[in-house]
Amino acid sequence: MNVRAAALAKAYPFDEATSAFAGDVIGDLARHPKRLSPKYFYDATGSELFEQITVLPEYYPTRTELGILRDRGSEIAAIIPNGAALVEFGAGATTKVRLLLETSEFAAYVPVDISGDFLKAQADGLRRDFPGLGIYPVAADFTTPFALPEAVAAMPKVGFFPGSTLGNFEPSEALAFLRSARKILGHGAQMIIGVDLEKDERVLYDAYNDAAGVTARFNLNVLVRINRELGGNFDLSGFTHRSIYNRDRHRIEMHLISRKAQTVRILGNTFAFRPGESIHTENSYKYSLERFTALARSAGWTVRDSWTDANTMFSVHALVAD
Ligand code: AVJ
Repeated sequence: MNVRAAALAKAYPFDEATSAFAGDVIGDLARHPKRLSPKYFYDATGSELFEQITVLPEYYPTRTELGILRDRGSEIAAIIPNGAALVEFGAGATTKVRLLLETSEFAAYVPVDISGDFLKAQADGLRRDFPGLGIYPVAADFTTPFALPEAVAAMPKVGFFPGSTLGNFEPSEALAFLRSARKILGHGAQMIIGVDLEKDERVLYDAYNDAAGVTARFNLNVLVRINRELGGNFDLSGFTHRSIYNRDRHRIEMHLISRKAQTVRILGNTFAFRPGESIHTENSYKYSLERFTALARSAGWTVRDSWTDANTMFSVHALVAD
C-alpha cells in the first residue's frame, strides 16, 4: 500500500485493493498532465466491454493472435517439453490458453492474476475440460515478484503472456517485467509472448476509435468505477473519448477529454479541469520485430522463433531464458 493509500485507509473503511485504487486515483489526478492507470479498466463491466472490443471488426489484435496460435500450433508444441508447467501472466478469457493446452502436453497450468474470483471461475471450467492437468492459480500482481507453487517446482517452465499486454508498459517497465518473468521462471525456461506490431496509422487509429463506440465506453467506464467504488462525482457527459497514434513514441494513447471547465470531487479531494484538458488513461505500445528482439535480449531472453500473420499485423514469439 502506498503512503497516500495508507492515509486514506485510516479515513475510509476500504479493503486493501480499494485503498490502493483510491491512492493511485487521487495521486494520478493531482499530476500534470492528469492520468489514470489502465489496470483499473477491468472491473466486471470493463472486462465485459473489453471482451466486446476483442470481436469488433476494427480491433484486429485478438483474432490475429488467435490465428497465429492456431496456424503455428504444431510448431509451438514442438518446442515445448513434455510435462511442463504453463505460467500465464494475467489471466483473462481462456480461449488462447486452451489452444496451447490442446496442442501441447502440459502437466500444470498456473494462471497468475490480481482478481482471485475471476481466476477461480476460469480454473473451474478448465478443470472440467482438462481433467489430467494440475491447475494452481496464484492471486498476485504479475508485475511484481511472486513465488511459483511448490507443486510445479520440478517441472520445466513455459511462460505465456498473450494479447500484447506488454504494450501497456512503458519501455522501461516492459524491460523490468521481462527481467522479472525471467527470474521467476528460471534458467532454461521458455516464454510465448504476443506483441502488437507497428503498422499503417489509419488501421491503428480505427482499432482504438471503433465506429460502434465500444472503446469509448470502455475508456469512460473507469470514471463510472471511480464514482461507484470511491464515491466520485464525475459527470460522464462532461468527458469524451479520444485515441491518437503517437508516432514518435510508437504508441496509441487513450485520453478522456474534459468538454468544459468543471470540478470533480473524490474522497474529500477536488480536481479542477480546464476545457479540453486530458486524463491520459492508456498507452498501447507497438513494436517492430527488431525493437522487440532487442528488448527481449536486454532482459535475458533469446528469441528462438517469431511468427506473424501474412499481413504482419501481430507477432507471437518463443523466447528462451539465457
Ligand atoms: C489489453 C492492453 C492489449 O492495448 O489493445 C483495447 C487494451 N484498450 N482497446 C490494447 C485496449 C483499448 C488492449 N490491451
